[in-house]
Amino acid sequence: MLIRVATSADAAAMARVVATVAAEGSIGAEPPVDIDARARQFREMLENPGAGGLWVLDDQGRVVGLAGAHDSGPVGVLSVGMALLTQARGQGAGRALLDTLLDHARACGAHKVDLEVWPDNARAIAMYTRAGFQVEGVRRAHYRRRDGSLRSTLLMAHLLDEEPGRR
Ligand SMILES: CC(C)(COP(=O)(O)OP(=O)(O)OC[C@H]1O[C@@H](n2cnc3c(N)ncnc32)[C@H](O)[C@@H]1OP(=O)(O)O)[C@@H](O)C(=O)NCCC(=O)NCCS
Repeated sequence: MLIRVATSADAAAMARVVATVAAEGSIGAEPPVDIDARARQFREMLENPGAGGLWVLDDQGRVVGLAGAHDSGPVGVLSVGMALLTQARGQGAGRALLDTLLDHARACGAHKVDLEVWPDNARAIAMYTRAGFQVEGVRRAHYRRRDGSLRSTLLMAHLLDEEPGRR
């Protein structure tokens, strides 16, 4: 498996990964994901990345995961997310994608990388914690799901300025 910068030719495959992972409930996107609409969104992001970017995990020409970073508002803060198909998990690829996102953020001069994660997503929280992310808070009952329920998220962030050798 290799990590490479996404191109617009990857957009549909990336949307399919989002649709598959959304079906298990571990990410914000809810099923059924509109593949065409999501692919269009990816193409737009690729055309106007700002300080952000999109990467794919490529297994012999097949997109099996993706990771993205985007400007989240405050200057110097990048928000990130990622999703891997089940068969690509547990082999270090998630951490490698996260390192790619962090390297990108450092190269952009960002001072902070943040994300939101479901509080019951132990695997993702463990990965982010091992990479130096800390919980900054809880967004209580923040997201209305299609079934009407309200879900909370954990806000996690990594302060790049606190890394050794930075400012
Ligand atoms: C979360 C996700 C990105 C992790 O990627 P991955 O490739 O499985 O993780 P890695 O193999 O790189 O492992 C990274 C760390 O995750 C944690 N981890 C991995 N497998 C785990 C498991 N089965 N249980 C608990 N923690 C686990 C460990 O901390 C691991 O670090 P270590 O190997 O140094 O101990 C991936 O499982 C995924 O796409 N899940 C569904 C979508 C999702 O949850 N996205 C994040 C939303 S915020």
